[in-house]
Amino acid sequence: MDRQLGFDFVRVTETAALAAAPWMGKGCKNCVDGAAVDCMRNIFDTMGINGTVVIGEGEKDEAPHLYIGEVIGDGSAQPQLDIAVDPVEGTSLVAKGLPNALAVLVVAERHSLMKAPDTYMEKIAVGPKAKGEINLDASVEDNLRATAGALNKSVKDLTIVVLDRPRHKKLINDIRSIGARIKLISDGDVAGGIATGLSDSGVDMMMGIGGATEGVLTAAALRCMGGEIQARLKPRNEKDRQKAKDLGIENIDKLYFTKELAQGDDIIFVATGITDGDLLKGIRYSTNSASSHTMLLRSKTGTIRFIKTYHTITRKPEYFPKDIFNPDFSKMING
Ligand code: FBP
Repeated sequence: MDRQLGFDFVRVTETAALAAAPWMGKGCKNCVDGAAVDCMRNIFDTMGINGTVVIGEGEKDEAPHLYIGEVIGDGSAQPQLDIAVDPVEGTSLVAKGLPNALAVLVVAERHSLMKAPDTYMEKIAVGPKAKGEINLDASVEDNLRATAGALNKSVKDLTIVVLDRPRHKKLINDIRSIGARIKLISDGDVAGGIATGLSDSGVDMMMGIGGATEGVLTAAALRCMGGEIQARLKPRNEKDRQKAKDLGIENIDKLYFTKELAQGDDIIFVATGITDGDLLKGIRYSTNSASSHTMLLRSKTGTIRFIKTYHTITRKPEYFPKDIFNPDFSKMING
């Protein structure tokens, strides 16, 4: 993959974030997502790439844009690419005006990214120093002690990100009883997973059950950062099992390692902050202009870039509908 492509992909997540941000705090998840998806799709059309969406907005019949299998670009350019998108990772966060919502994009060589079903996945993730020390099948205590050892910390100084969900009651009790600290998040476990890969984030580990597609995005980021994730699908019912089967997954109990979720040696991960967060600042608007903060990761070199961009929105009519600053809030659909 041409390394310059990474910068083109920065424009993609910037655009999605710029489109989603006006909806911050308006209470309308569908509006947030719709705006980001439309703008992301528009900008893809300006790129000379040959990509196939492997993680996107759902099946063809349920998503007008960025559906799984959709071909992006002219179909003849080389190399052929897998594209995984989450135009808004944390739609509720944006709708409620809460921190840590991201626009996320992963690009890899064709057939590199796991086609994850829209089900849950159990995950454990750590940064580079604790790589090789975790085991999803080991006890919480063993994982915490091994990670603390690798980080040369005591267990009480570890910080573990966990989604604040009733299903994590036992996990939360286990972590606390061993003495580690928990950072509960209301949504957005991709940001939690990425944080483990940054030595100054204050986050040492991410554990628990979240979305399976988010697990693949996290794996891609950790491939670039040298960290590790282990994961296993957690279907809730027969319908979820069928979704996995439809994607060719026969062994539902399989334990996935980082390199199985995100294969290949050439992976680009991009995320732009929508709302302010621990990793990235969110979008700031002023009259006809805006600023964004993006992280760009590349697996080949392990480079981690943080890019601040000032946008003059009125000069980019090809990317942004002219009402991007003032969307029609009367069209809000609650929920
Ligand atoms: P969405 O942006 O698709 O709403 O996902 C947010 C998220 O919090 C993910 O980060 C996480 O993996 C998943 O939802 C958890 O699912 P649930 O809210 O059902 O527990």
